[in-house]
Amino acid sequence: MNSPSLADQSSVTASPAESSTDSTTERSAQPIKPLFIGTLRVDPPILQAPMAGYTNYAFRQIVREFGGSGLQATEMVNARGFVWLDEHDCEHPDRLWGVKDEARPLAVQIWDNDPDTMAKVGRRLAGEYGVSVVDINFGCPVKQVTEKAHSGSYLLRDPERMYAIISRLVEACYPTPVTAKIRLGCTRKTMNHIEVAKTVERAGASALTVHGRTAEDFFSGSADWTKIAEIKEHLTRMPLIGNGDLQTPEQVAFAFRNYNVDGVMIARAALGRPWLFSQSAAALAGLPIPPDPSLEEQKSCMLRHYDLVVERFGESKGTLLMRKFACCYAQSKHGARHFRTHVAHVETPQQFYEVVEKYFPKHIDPSGPTETNPAVAEPISENPSAGFSECNC
Ligand SMILES: Cc1cc2nc3c(=O)[nH]c(=O)nc-3n(C[C@H](O)[C@H](O)[C@H](O)COP(=O)(O)O)c2cc1C
Repeated sequence: MNSPSLADQSSVTASPAESSTDSTTERSAQPIKPLFIGTLRVDPPILQAPMAGYTNYAFRQIVREFGGSGLQATEMVNARGFVWLDEHDCEHPDRLWGVKDEARPLAVQIWDNDPDTMAKVGRRLAGEYGVSVVDINFGCPVKQVTEKAHSGSYLLRDPERMYAIISRLVEACYPTPVTAKIRLGCTRKTMNHIEVAKTVERAGASALTVHGRTAEDFFSGSADWTKIAEIKEHLTRMPLIGNGDLQTPEQVAFAFRNYNVDGVMIARAALGRPWLFSQSAAALAGLPIPPDPSLEEQKSCMLRHYDLVVERFGESKGTLLMRKFACCYAQSKHGARHFRTHVAHVETPQQFYEVVEKYFPKHIDPSGPTETNPAVAEPISENPSAGFSECNC
């Protein structure tokens, strides 16, 4: 495929018709087809990614209020931990906060390497919890999950085991659809995304999401959308969802139209911009993209997020937990660094509100986020050691 890569474009504003191949031009002229995961209609075909430590009920609720995501996902939930808690009459994992009662559609992501354990948990999620989709994590590159638990992206080296896990889960969850999320392979040298994708389909999964990096990449370099697109022609029925580095509504529309995917998934860029989904939905539909909310509205959104977190975790734990979300909301704004420095130390609601009042960015930087402008925060972690890890478990 000759399409320009997302990474080549600092700002993806060229219309697909101007910048791509004939087949892309044809695709851009067509209305967007809704994505079906089993019988579930995902419309618009823009998915909110699972992110451990971030995509809890509070975040999902904020995204839901802005709209624009056809399917939202929880953080990854450890299936073995779930079973243990269950056997010891303990409460179910915190990561299932809200899941039973919140609006649908909703996907819960689980991880482990044992087909029976996964099936046990999948059955509970599909039955008792009534979730819309059970997703399997085959992409997490963090050592606790790979080396210690031989799960997540570790399993990409063992498609047979993946097959066993998926097929058992499909059986256990029926008729709830089961999906899988992968990376391109364990390492650049051992990329096996085509073989893995075919295995996932053969095992009965209802959709596949591909993050266009390998496990060894973590978050370095750029997501390889050309490799994601390669997969499509090898699938016979299963929809393909592309993921990696989508930061603007224009990029979302560009990726959808240029890389042969049935859906797109957004992760990091939505953390401080939960309105990105509704903007992306407009871009995908060829409608004018709504402007960002004003800074005052963004501040209100962050405070509502804070209320939801405190309601669940209490003032003390909730305030500590909110620090990282608050930093995300300030990201790429004039004065973000200053705000971050202060919000990183708040311990009480009073301190939180004071810091927000005093330091939450009040002006949009007219020059925009640039490397030469020290007042503007660096982009959301390309480097997991800068605060994000894909596990947080
Ligand atoms: C903090 C953090 C936590 C993540 N947790 C998960 C997770 O629980 N399950 C998963 O499949 N992917 C997880 N990911 C990966 C994202 O879902 C996504 O694949 C990746 O960030 C690339 O998409 P993006 O460029 O839009 O951020 C996580 C990523 C980050 C940054």
